[in-house]
Amino acid sequence: MSGGAEAATGGELAEGMHADTERFDVAVVRPPRRLRGDIRLPGDKSVSHRALLLAALADGESRIAGASDGQDVRSTAGIVERLGATVERVAADGRTVDYRVVSPGVDGLVEPDGVLDCGNSGTSLRLVAGVLAGLPGYAVLDGDDSLRRRPVARIIEPLRSMGAELHARRGDSLPPLTVVGHTPLRAVELTTPVPSAQVKSAILLAALRADGRTTVRERIATRDHTERMLRARGVPVERLDAGDGAAPAAVSWSVEGGSSVRAIAERVPGDVSAAAFWLVAGAIHPDAELRLRSVGVNPTRRAVIDLLRAMGARIDEQPVDDLPDDGIGEPLADLVVRSSELVSIELGPGEVAAAIDEIPALCLAATQAYGTTVIRGAGELRHKESDRITGIAAGLGALGARVEIDGDDLRIDGPRRLTGAATDSLDDHRLAMTLAVAGLIAQGETTVRRPGCANISYPGFFADIEGVRA
Ligand code: S3P
Repeated sequence: MSGGAEAATGGELAEGMHADTERFDVAVVRPPRRLRGDIRLPGDKSVSHRALLLAALADGESRIAGASDGQDVRSTAGIVERLGATVERVAADGRTVDYRVVSPGVDGLVEPDGVLDCGNSGTSLRLVAGVLAGLPGYAVLDGDDSLRRRPVARIIEPLRSMGAELHARRGDSLPPLTVVGHTPLRAVELTTPVPSAQVKSAILLAALRADGRTTVRERIATRDHTERMLRARGVPVERLDAGDGAAPAAVSWSVEGGSSVRAIAERVPGDVSAAAFWLVAGAIHPDAELRLRSVGVNPTRRAVIDLLRAMGARIDEQPVDDLPDDGIGEPLADLVVRSSELVSIELGPGEVAAAIDEIPALCLAATQAYGTTVIRGAGELRHKESDRITGIAAGLGALGARVEIDGDDLRIDGPRRLTGAATDSLDDHRLAMTLAVAGLIAQGETTVRRPGCANISYPGFFADIEGVRA
C-alpha cells in the first residue's frame, strides 16, 4: 500500500479492512502523493442530538433526514426511546441515518426504568439533563470512563436554581448524574458560568417547562442551533444583544415557559466539524483538491473556515439553497479546499469558543504555517473527551511539531516537517482524526492507537482517509 490508512490488529496490517476501525487497535497512515476527493460527510452531530430531543418533546411524528450515525447521536436516540418515544431508523448509509420519531408529547414521556447511557457523549448528558429537569420523575445519567471525568456542576447549578434536584459524584462535580425533575420549573435570568452551548441549551430546554420567561446570557456567544431549531418548531425564542458595554460577543436568549414544540420534518446539514479535518488536510498537503458537499455554515459554527482562510487556506465556498424539507434554517455550502501556503494566527477565548471542536485540527494546520500560532484561553479543551491541550501537544509533538503549553495557552511554531511516528488518540475521536490527517503529510508511517473512536462523530472516516488517495 502506497498511502492512505490501514487498520491493523495487534500491529498486524489487515489490508482492505479500513472502514470499520472499531475492531482494530491501530490505524496506519502513510502520505499519498496527491489528495483528491469528493467527500460525503456525516450529518451535523450537534443538530442531530437536538433534532432527536426536540422530536421527543413534540407530540406526533417527526422526521429527521441525514442525521449523524455516529455513536454519540446513537446514544441520544437510545435515551429518547427510553423516555417513551418510538425511534425508527428508516434508512442508513453508514454515516447518516434517517429517523422517524413518534412521541406521545412532553406530558406523555415516562420515567426511565434504568440508567440512561450517554456513552461518550457530553452533549447527550447535558442536553438530556435539561429536558429531565422539567419532567416529573427520577433519572440517572451515566456514560463511559471519559464521560465520568467531565464536569457537570456547570449544569447542576443553573438547573437547581430553576427548581430541579440534581446530584452527582464527588461533591456534585462528576457523573453519574441524578435528576429529579420538577413541574413547573422556576423561570430565571442567568449567565452561563462558562462559554458552553451545551449548558445554554440545557437551560433553554428546561425553560420550556418554566412558569414564565427565562433569559440566558452568554458572555461569549456559542453555537445557536437550539435557538434556531426551537424557532423552527414554533417556539418563540428572542435574541437580545447585550448592549450593556459588555464584550461585543455577549448575547442573551429568552424563551417563554409553557411553549409547545411542534413536530416537523427536517434535513440535517453536513457536519462542519467533520469537514474541518479535510479543510486542514487539503490546505497542508502539497498536492490536494478536496470537495465537501452540503456543509452546514451556520455563522456560529463556521469559524474554522474563516480562521483557516485568515491563515491563507484556499477554500472556495458555494452556497447551496436550503433543501425543501430543511425546516431548521441552517445555511449550507459546498466547499473546495486546495493546497495552500499558510501563515500563523492568534486566537483568543472568543475564537476558541467559536471553533472549540476544531482546535485540534487547527493546531495541526499551525504546524505547517509560517510563524508562531498562539491560542489563548483554551482551558475548556481540558474538559472534552480527553484533555485535548495535553493530548494534541503529545500527539503532534511525537510527529516532530513544536507545541508549547503555557497554562491554558498553546504556542505552535511552524512550518515544521512532520515525521511518521507512533501516536495515541487517547480514545478521543477528534484527536484520532487530527493525528490520522497529520499522517497524510508526515514522512514515513504514522500509527494512531485506538482509532475506532472516530466513529463517535464520523463513521467512515478511515474509509475516507483511504479514499482521498489519488
Ligand atoms: C456542543 C457544544 C460544544 C462542543 C460539543 C457539542 C453542542 O460543547 O464541544 O462537541 O452540541 O452543544 P460546549 O458547548 O460545552 O463547549
